[in-house]
Amino acid sequence: MVTRRHCLLVLVGVLCFIFPQTSTHQEDVLVSTYHVCIINDMPSDPPPLTVHCKSGDDDIGSKDLLLREEYRWSFRVNFWETTLFFCSARWGGGKRTYIDAFVAIRDERRCRKNRYCLWSVREDGFYFSNDNSTWRNQHPW
Ligand SMILES: *[C@@H]1O[C@H](CO)[C@@H](O)[C@H](O)[C@H]1NC(C)=O
Repeated sequence: MVTRRHCLLVLVGVLCFIFPQTSTHQEDVLVSTYHVCIINDMPSDPPPLTVHCKSGDDDIGSKDLLLREEYRWSFRVNFWETTLFFCSARWGGGKRTYIDAFVAIRDERRCRKNRYCLWSVREDGFYFSNDNSTWRNQHPW
C-alpha cells in the first residue's frame, strides 16, 4: 500500500507539473470505480432482509430486500485508500449484525478483477465473492 501511494504521489506530481491545467482529468484516470452488491439469499421470504449501508461521506439508504433482490452501489476509492462502507443488516426479529462491506485496504486488491465485491446473505452468514461463482462465508450472523 505504501508503495502504491508513493507511486501515485510521484505520478500525480509529475502529471500536474507537466499538465497543470488538466489536473482533474488525471484524477479520473488514477481513481477507479468499484461496485458492491449485496443479495438476499436467505432461506425464506418473508421476512425481507433490511440492509442499510453508509460511509463517512455517503448514506446509501435503507432498503428491504425481497428474496434474491440486490442492494448495490458504486463509488470511487479515495486517494488515501481509507474508503470504508459498513452496513447494518436485519432479518426478522432474530438476526441483526453489522458488516464492513468494503474496506479499501482489504478489498481493492481482492475485488480488482471485476471491480465488484459481492455479498450473498445466507442463513449462516455473509458470503463473499469477487467473481459471482466462488463464495466464502466471511461473517457469521
Ligand atoms: C450474479 O449471477 C447471477 C446469475 O448467475 C445474476 O443474476 C447476477 O446479476 C450476477 N450478479 C452480478 C453482480 O454480476
